[in-house]
Amino acid sequence: MARDSRTESWPGAFIAFEGIDGSGKSTVATAIARKLKHDWERAVVLTREPGGTPLGEGVRALVLSSASADITGVAELLLFSAARAQHVAKVIEPQLQHGSIIICDRFTDSTLAYQWGGRGIPRQTIEAAQRLATGGIEPDLRVLLDVPVDVAIARRHAEVDSVDRFDAEQTAFHQAVRATYLGLAAASPEDWLVIDAGSSPAEVLDTTYRMLTDWLQVFFAR
Ligand code: TYD
Repeated sequence: MARDSRTESWPGAFIAFEGIDGSGKSTVATAIARKLKHDWERAVVLTREPGGTPLGEGVRALVLSSASADITGVAELLLFSAARAQHVAKVIEPQLQHGSIIICDRFTDSTLAYQWGGRGIPRQTIEAAQRLATGGIEPDLRVLLDVPVDVAIARRHAEVDSVDRFDAEQTAFHQAVRATYLGLAAASPEDWLVIDAGSSPAEVLDTTYRMLTDWLQVFFAR
């Protein structure tokens, strides 16, 4: 972890929200960013992956499209990583230098969970691509919104928006993604807040906000 040396060069806080499709992650991240903007004096930036820059949003459309059904695992990994390289250089690093709190909807742990856990690409291959894309920048904290796969699938079915390539994957794929997230969090618990995201949206938001603001108080007091 490069966190201690980083705090001096980057006065901001970098928080990634993670979870399987249907975990409610994007809704919670958006609401958290809104509350932090209201309650904290620091700049708060809400951003997402794939996306966060014009180039990244273009990659997002390409990589999630059903027209990319025959994409290879490595091509998929490199597209997510290319979007990330642009996002780190144009948004994340400048905002960390500026002292902002960055709420990022997915980051490198999504690539481990989906491309390693889900697709079976070797972990070392993924980590090599991430080193290139991020230059070593890691979140200061990961928030995992954890929910059983059947609950997540039921939520996705209740939504009206269109189904992307990942939503359309089999249950076993989503189970592997969830298990990978839980394994990553168990391996370095100091880097993660794991939230039970199966309860009501209001309860999940309250718990997440309370745990996150407790963490931010300690982080900025260092
Ligand atoms: P997301 O924005 O969470 O989807 P939605 O808006 O439909 O809820 O993420 C898009 C999909 O991209 C999601 O299924 C996970 C996948 N993904 C990866 O497979 N690897 C990655 O590195 C990232 C960032 C996302």
